Amino acid sequence: MDAKRPFMRLKELHIHFQKTLAALYDREEVNNFFFMLCQAFVNVTRVQLALRPDLEVTEQDEQRFREALSSLERETPIQYIIGEAHFYDLLFEVNEHTLIPRPETEELVDWIKSDLQDIGLQKPKIVDIGTGTGCIAISLAHLFSDALVTAIDISAGALETAYRNAEKNKVKVSFIQKDILAVAPNDADLGKYDVVVSNPPYVRELEKQEIKNNVLLYEPDTALFVSDDNPLIFYNKISDFAFEHLQPGGILYFEINQYLAEETKLLVASKGFKEVSLRKDIYGNYRMLKAIKK
Ligand SMILES: C[S@@+](CC[C@H](N)C(=O)[O-])C[C@H]1O[C@@H](n2cnc3c(N)ncnc32)[C@H](O)[C@@H]1O
Repeated sequence: MDAKRPFMRLKELHIHFQKTLAALYDREEVNNFFFMLCQAFVNVTRVQLALRPDLEVTEQDEQRFREALSSLERETPIQYIIGEAHFYDLLFEVNEHTLIPRPETEELVDWIKSDLQDIGLQKPKIVDIGTGTGCIAISLAHLFSDALVTAIDISAGALETAYRNAEKNKVKVSFIQKDILAVAPNDADLGKYDVVVSNPPYVRELEKQEIKNNVLLYEPDTALFVSDDNPLIFYNKISDFAFEHLQPGGILYFEINQYLAEETKLLVASKGFKEVSLRKDIYGNYRMLKAIKK
C-alpha cells in the first residue's frame, strides 16, 4: 500500500487477499470471502465492485479488511468474521456460542414446511431441541405465523444469540435453557407438541479427521461431538422425550449422521414410532429422519 495515500482501492485489497490466502483457499473461495466482506463492511456489492474497480475505502475500513484477512489466515469461518449467516432466506447472528447454520438443515426445515402445509394444522405447537442460533425454530415461526414455537438449548450463550435472532427476524419463540439429556419425563416446563424437531450433536470423535480446521477450531464442541461408544445418545433421549410429549399423529424430525442412518432409524422405531422414514440431502446422503406417533 502507498503510505502517503489515506484511501486504498478495493481492487488493490482484493489482489492482496488473493496473494495472501492463495496457499489456504482456492481462488473462487477467496473471491467469495472478499465480496462478502465488501458487502458487510462497506456495503458494496459484487456487481458494484465490478463496475467501479476504482472504489476506495477509508483507513478505518481498510483496517477492518486487514483484521478479517488475518482471521481468514487463521481459518476462522467467514460467518464468524462477519457475525452473520443466511438461513432459509433469513439472516442470523452467529458467534462462538453457536453452530453456523448448514444448508442440509434448510432441507430439514423444507420437509417440515411442506408436511405442515399439507396437514393444514391451525396453531401447530413445535419444539426445537438444541436450537443454537435458533435457525430451525425461527424459520418455522416465520413460515407459520400462528405456530407456537419453543426452543431449548443447554448453552446460555446460544440462547441469548437465538433470542436476539428471534427479535431481529420479528418472530415470537419461547426459549428454555435445559440439558435435554437430564430432562425428566414429567418436566413441568414442557407440554405437548405437534412437532418435535432436533439437529443434535452427532459427530463421533472418530470422524474428527474428516473435519476441516475452520469447523474443528472454531465451532463449539458441545454443538458437534458425541462419544464413539454412545453416538446416538441424543437420538435415544429425544425419541423418548418425543414419544412422551407428542400428540397422537405428532411428528418427530431429526437431522442425522449419514453414517448412522439405519441405526438411527431402528432406534427411533424401537421407541414405538410408526412410519419411520429417511430422506437424502441434495448430495444423496441420508441426512434426515421423520417418524410419526400414531
Ligand atoms: C448441531 S447444533 C444445532 C444447532 C441448530 N439447531 C442448527 O441446526 O444449526 C446442536 C445444539 O445442541 C445444543 N446442545 C448440546 N448438548 C445439549 C444438551 N444436553 N441439551 C440441550 N441442548 C444441547 C448445542 O448447544 C447446540 O446448540
